[in-house]
Amino acid sequence: MNNAFELRLEEDLSTLREAGTYKRLRHLTSPTAAHARMAEAGDVVVLSSNNYLGLANDPRVVEAGIAGLRRYGAGTASVRFICGTFEAHRALETKLAAFLGFPAALTYASCWAANEGLLPTVGTAGNTLISDELNHASIIDACRLAGAKRVRFRHADMDDLEAKLREAEGQAFIVTDGVFSMEGSVAKLPEIVALAERYGAVTIVDDSHGTGVLGATGRGSIEHFGLHGRVDIVTGTLGKALGGAAGGFVAGGAALVDTLVQRSRTQLFSNALPPTVACSALAAIEVLEAHPELLAKQRENIAYFRAGLVRLGFRPLDGPSAIVPIVVGETALAIEMSERLLAEGVFVTGFGFPVVPEGTARIRVQLAADLTRADLDRALAAFEKARPSTSSG
Ligand SMILES: Cc1ncc(COP(=O)(O)O)c(C=O)c1O
Repeated sequence: MNNAFELRLEEDLSTLREAGTYKRLRHLTSPTAAHARMAEAGDVVVLSSNNYLGLANDPRVVEAGIAGLRRYGAGTASVRFICGTFEAHRALETKLAAFLGFPAALTYASCWAANEGLLPTVGTAGNTLISDELNHASIIDACRLAGAKRVRFRHADMDDLEAKLREAEGQAFIVTDGVFSMEGSVAKLPEIVALAERYGAVTIVDDSHGTGVLGATGRGSIEHFGLHGRVDIVTGTLGKALGGAAGGFVAGGAALVDTLVQRSRTQLFSNALPPTVACSALAAIEVLEAHPELLAKQRENIAYFRAGLVRLGFRPLDGPSAIVPIVVGETALAIEMSERLLAEGVFVTGFGFPVVPEGTARIRVQLAADLTRADLDRALAAFEKARPSTSSG
């Protein structure tokens, strides 16, 4: 062991602790759901999970995973083009494509891997990737791996996007989150699509927080705006509303998906989604399709909790998604508030720099369909007690 190296890391970690920005992992001893059991805090109401439809521990999703494990075993023990791909992958990809309204889809071990597979593959030298400055870290890193010219446009600023489109080289790609994960806001897709059409750009939307949340039937931000057929490529995760395990996908044209099979490095050099996950995610989509009341319940919960926060004097950022951020200012304040909430039995995370810009640290509440009115009332009572005295929220 190189002790000097360990010591340097330890010093760096001490700085984080002193600044109050050190992140502690919480240990759950039960499945995640509206309630979970946490080693550090006992029974908690969960307001910090992407388990938007409450399907992560749904018996139909769990049983489908178990059946997948029994049928296919743990995995193919290699990448798909070398060792083959399971029928379960094809079934899930066919379902995802149909569900999202695209000709084809391809799964990856995560949405991070999907973005990193897609963007360097299409964003080759001589072309231009134009990315919203608040896009998810996986998009930012994936763009860095691309040979294309890389340009950021100011968040949701359509004049800036148009200026960048005018200067673009070769094929331009506009890349945006569908729902911005730290803001809870939705991308201005109608304007983005109109600009893409005017300038011949390809539109790529990462709808990780939109799928299973937005749109009349939970198909995401494209459905929310009625833009089916006008967005070229969608990426997303299976690790949030669609079962919560892990996994991601790209949906788009048949030639795009075939190109990704041939060329995308996180497909060619990384194992497939475990079949348990493929089977659980397929079941999650089927549950969502058969039970629109889940979406209705989630929306009711969002409206109720937002109204409760406002009644208590908080000013959550606006937006139609299941993400309700409350900006408190300094990172240490957000972390301290999340600790006070945990002491009251509410699990919700504080986010600070560098995840969000300096001075805009926040508590990010996420509202799922399986939270009951009693859970929400208990959480609102905890927010009232945990309110920071210096907060602008
Ligand atoms: C917009 C967005 N893209 C990608 C990801 C990464 O998803 P995964 O956990 O499947 O890698 C996330 C997860 O936080 C996300 O919010």
